[in-house]
Amino acid sequence: MENHSFKILIADESHQDFAQIIVDEMESSAKARGTGIAKRSPDYVKQKMHEGKAVIAFSEEGVWAGFCYIETWSHGEYVANSGLIVSPQFRKSGLAKMIKKKIFELSRRMYPDAKIFGLTTGLAVMKINSELGYEPVTYSELTQDDAFWAGCKSCVNYEILMSKGRKNCMCTAMLYDPKDHYEPEETTQDFKKHSKLYERFMRIKQWKLLAPFMKHHLDHPEQKDVHDGRVKAVASTRHKSLFHFFFNF
Ligand SMILES: CC(C)(COP(=O)(O)OP(=O)(O)OC[C@H]1O[C@@H](n2cnc3c(N)ncnc32)[C@H](O)[C@@H]1OP(=O)(O)O)[C@@H](O)C(=O)NCCC(=O)NCCS
Repeated sequence: MENHSFKILIADESHQDFAQIIVDEMESSAKARGTGIAKRSPDYVKQKMHEGKAVIAFSEEGVWAGFCYIETWSHGEYVANSGLIVSPQFRKSGLAKMIKKKIFELSRRMYPDAKIFGLTTGLAVMKINSELGYEPVTYSELTQDDAFWAGCKSCVNYEILMSKGRKNCMCTAMLYDPKDHYEPEETTQDFKKHSKLYERFMRIKQWKLLAPFMKHHLDHPEQKDVHDGRVKAVASTRHKSLFHFFFNF
């Protein structure tokens, strides 16, 4: 782990020039991971900065290093801390953890009664969330606000999400309920104890979710252009090893 020190700030209008680099990094990181994201425009990021609903990080030298923002759903009943991104050169320095802590505190201050949730395929984010007191939940415990789920449309796995009636997908859902939550020490311990299991569960879940799509495609190779997203990805990677496919999210 590299030894960097960072400035973690609540973003404002003075940071709007960084909006483009932030969305570019979000997009290229998603591509590199072979996954999709809810796409954001620079204007959307600027708006979050304007509203004081974002956290931005810089290195000591003033280089942009990371970002995250707040979204509200179901009329403020739910809050998501979304769009977490750390610039590749500053990863594995503990920065994501610091940004998430800051945005979590900001969310608690702005929306003290809201349930705070997130969806992720990454173990790093699960670990960070656990240290803040989040616990894994089923999708039914998340906001049912259509506008939130519409954000998944640009994800390569959207078809899987819809085929499961929005009840399951590749991501793991985690939630912090201010009225009913474990202490961060408890969720941290729980994560430590179960992280290997979570990892296995995620793999099994992803395998189970993909299986019908794989089968469909193998049964109907002529339809390989019919579906968008994951099915197309399956089609194009069919010849690769399953190992590569499952672990290349
Ligand atoms: C995921 C991401 C935000 C992590 O940022 P980071 O600053 O490197 O994370 P941190 O250094 O704070 O790491 C937090 C913990 O996760 C672990 N971790 C970090 N990256 C990891 C990885 N790829 N796999 C497993 N664990 C990882 C760290 O070791 C650390 O654990 P520790 O407390 O035991 O040391 C960063 O890799 C990123 O921007 N990725 C692309 C965008 C993305 O995936 N965003 C999340 C969308 S839900």
